[in-house]
Amino acid sequence: MARLKVRGFEIHKGFLSVEAQQALIHALRPVLRAAPLFSPDVPGGGQMSVRMTSAGRFGWYSDKSGYRYIEQHPSGQAWPEIPSDVLRVWTDLVDRDRMPDCCLFNYYGEGARMGLHQDKDEADFSYPVVSISLGDDGLLRMGGTARKEKTESIWLNSGDVVVMGGDARLAYHGVDRIRFRSSRLLPKGGRVNLTLRVVT
Ligand code: SIN
Ligand code: MN
Repeated sequence: MARLKVRGFEIHKGFLSVEAQQALIHALRPVLRAAPLFSPDVPGGGQMSVRMTSAGRFGWYSDKSGYRYIEQHPSGQAWPEIPSDVLRVWTDLVDRDRMPDCCLFNYYGEGARMGLHQDKDEADFSYPVVSISLGDDGLLRMGGTARKEKTESIWLNSGDVVVMGGDARLAYHGVDRIRFRSSRLLPKGGRVNLTLRVVT
């Protein structure tokens, strides 16, 4: 395991062993059954290439009218609970009084990407966002708090965990591309990214 810091992003390379990665995937199966992946519409028109769902009290959602947290899956059901194995990653890395109340599950299939954005719809930016990468490699681009600032990129591999806190909490970030089928963790390939957030 190696820890590096790039533009304030704390990157824990190889934080999760292969066994721990498999355990997370196993723990997430019931989440996907209760709250199936969907392709959100985006305000500008079109759909995200990433498919998503959530666990926890709040889930991330977007449609033509904007981006927001909502308390139900689009089906109308409450989001499932965040699996304890996922919460353990937070308690291992974050020394704070609260647990996350949202775990966003992003699935990147072949060709999926995520544009440069900030995570800024939470009430208290003193809590970090913790991001867990599983499956195929993804190229994370990291910038500063203004969109025009210079960016740096790093390949995230399965088992890497990134903590976006402090100066990096409101930094721009995105995923330019994945290397489809670079990992054997997910039988059908693709990349899963989990982000843990304190929303309220
Ligand atoms: C996100 O910003 O929500 C996802 C980041 C990632 O997929 O690594
Ligand atoms: Mn984000």
